Amino acid sequence: MKPLPPAVPADAARTENKGRGGLFARARNPFWLAPMAGITDVVFRRLMDEMQAGVLVSELVSAKGLLFNSAKTRKMTEVHANPGAPVGVQLFGESAEDIIAAAQGLCRETVAFIDINLGCPVKKVVKKGSGAALMRDPGYLEKYLSRIRQNIDHPLTVKMRTGWSDEELTIHECVEAADRAGCEWVAIHGRTRAQGYEGRADWDLIADVARKAQIPIIGNGDIRSARQAKDRLAETGVDAVMIGRGALRNPWLFRECLGEDTAERSPFTLLCRYQELLAGCYDTRNTLLRVRKFATWLAFGYPGAAAFRRGLFETHSLAVVMRLADEFFRQAAHLPAPRFEDSEAFMMGGHG
Ligand SMILES: Cc1cc2nc3c(=O)[nH]c(=O)nc-3n(C[C@H](O)[C@H](O)[C@H](O)COP(=O)(O)O)c2cc1C
Repeated sequence: MKPLPPAVPADAARTENKGRGGLFARARNPFWLAPMAGITDVVFRRLMDEMQAGVLVSELVSAKGLLFNSAKTRKMTEVHANPGAPVGVQLFGESAEDIIAAAQGLCRETVAFIDINLGCPVKKVVKKGSGAALMRDPGYLEKYLSRIRQNIDHPLTVKMRTGWSDEELTIHECVEAADRAGCEWVAIHGRTRAQGYEGRADWDLIADVARKAQIPIIGNGDIRSARQAKDRLAETGVDAVMIGRGALRNPWLFRECLGEDTAERSPFTLLCRYQELLAGCYDTRNTLLRVRKFATWLAFGYPGAAAFRRGLFETHSLAVVMRLADEFFRQAAHLPAPRFEDSEAFMMGGHG
């Protein structure tokens, strides 16, 4: 691993700015769950809330979809009762007007903030001028965000990449734009849009942004262990870190970041809890699809994981899936928890 730059204390102006709308101060801790499409729905967020994540964000939700009142889209914005951490809804859309109208339909009591996706690299999204395309013109971005900020009741946050490409590293300008527009924080996935999920997240650049910014900076990218999360936090001067894929492979990660000993953890018990929560929210088919995926992530790195996965996908019975998982994790119980290696490619695609 590259040596990290020396520890950088957040400067006084930024510390003061943290109080902007009071949202940042409401974070339970500095270890946050990253938004992930198809994953961070109301049930997964609740599970990660139980795992003590500091802030929770929905997957990206189309502002237009909400305006059309699609039931599926609306479900993505559901928030569980009495969350222990602020829960935000991430919207995307090329028009500020659509975002404003969509946000107005979201309950201010339950949705703690609106996050705008400025990082989605997917063609369908950027082609329409949303997601990472909005980072190409920081001047326009400031107007776009200001217009949204002035017309919604929720606090506003953003999640971005480092720029469109190495030739268009607009991160400093875009962070300034978000700050001037009145956003509460900027989360940065340390890759360009052109990079997709290849290469490494550029934490040197994130640290440089954190050093200069007057607004809380949330660093994101490639954090796979509690040690890495704490080191990034201590050494780069970011105000919090966001963890995505690391939490899929190790859902206990947030607890570990807080110093909890999770040696006695039981993947099967956690899977049962997830299934129970899913069953309260989805039909059997959708519960099955999600339980299967989750069981697969939990099994990664144990011997026999590939055969286990095949077995899961050969059946359409939730009861069989749970029985196979019980057997698999019982056999694996005496083994040390698998490590999520830096060299491993895992879920190399997403919407931010
Ligand atoms: C399956 C998947 C879906 C994602 N969906 C979103 C999304 O909806 N919105 C977003 O801002 N980022 C999304 N991302 C990006 C993550 O939030 C995060 O920035 C990225 O995965 C890097 O962090 P990590 O290495 O901790 O996973 C997604 C990533 C993955 C793997």
